[in-house]
Amino acid sequence: MHGSVILLGPPGAGKGTQATRLSEVSGRVILSTGDLLRAAVANDTELGRAAKGFMDAGELVPDNLILGLIGAHLATLDPNQGILFDGFPRTIPQAEALTTLCQIEMVLCIEVIDDAIVERIVGRRMDPQTGEIYHLVHKPAPPSVTDRLIQRRDDTEETVRTRLSTYHEQTAPLVDYFSSLGLLRCVDGGQDIDQVHADLITAMTDE
Ligand code: AP5
Repeated sequence: MHGSVILLGPPGAGKGTQATRLSEVSGRVILSTGDLLRAAVANDTELGRAAKGFMDAGELVPDNLILGLIGAHLATLDPNQGILFDGFPRTIPQAEALTTLCQIEMVLCIEVIDDAIVERIVGRRMDPQTGEIYHLVHKPAPPSVTDRLIQRRDDTEETVRTRLSTYHEQTAPLVDYFSSLGLLRCVDGGQDIDQVHADLITAMTDE
């Protein structure tokens, strides 16, 4: 059974940014349901066509589709490979299903207040060639790549507010769920990117 670490937090908390760095340090492979879904939409697969409307609206894609996606990807990995989940699980049923698929070692919760989220999301840009995540203010891209940067379809101010409501209604209950299992470790995601990374490393290595 795979050992796994979960990154939990609201949209724009920095899960993707930190997942890349933690993967480099820990050797864990990143499994991001958001990235997998965006690839399915770009490739116009059956899953992508089913998921697109939910994603554009800032709502969650139904659990059965997500669990099918996760199951298919886990089946392709060496069972000894450690995993870093980014954006999964997002509902209690997803979390319960995950406990049967993986050994959950810990859940790293990145805490950021709602007021900071909108500015982070609206200013986010991505390099489609490398997948690197930038921000117009907090993490500017080098001049050599600025011409090719793209903005996510769901990174509008209106959609972010729906995504935040969705988070509070359906995903935030996972904080208590994982806390009751003794798996939760929280860090202050309102600090700069390097400090959040340092705190996550400390949280991961604390006994
Ligand atoms: P997903 O892609 O997972 O989006 P999300 O959870 O909304 O998270 P984001 O990717 O927006 O933010 P992040 O926390 O990764 O932040 P980032 O590092 O980029 O999901 C998209 C959609 O897919 C969902 O809405 C849903 O429809 C569907 N979906 C996905 N998984 C699902 C599931 N399991 N079940 C059902 N549906 C699912 O950082 C954001 C910005 O802030 C960047 O510009 C970055 O440079 C900047 N930044 C990062 N850290 C800092 C910092 N410390 N200080 C200042 N700026 C920072």
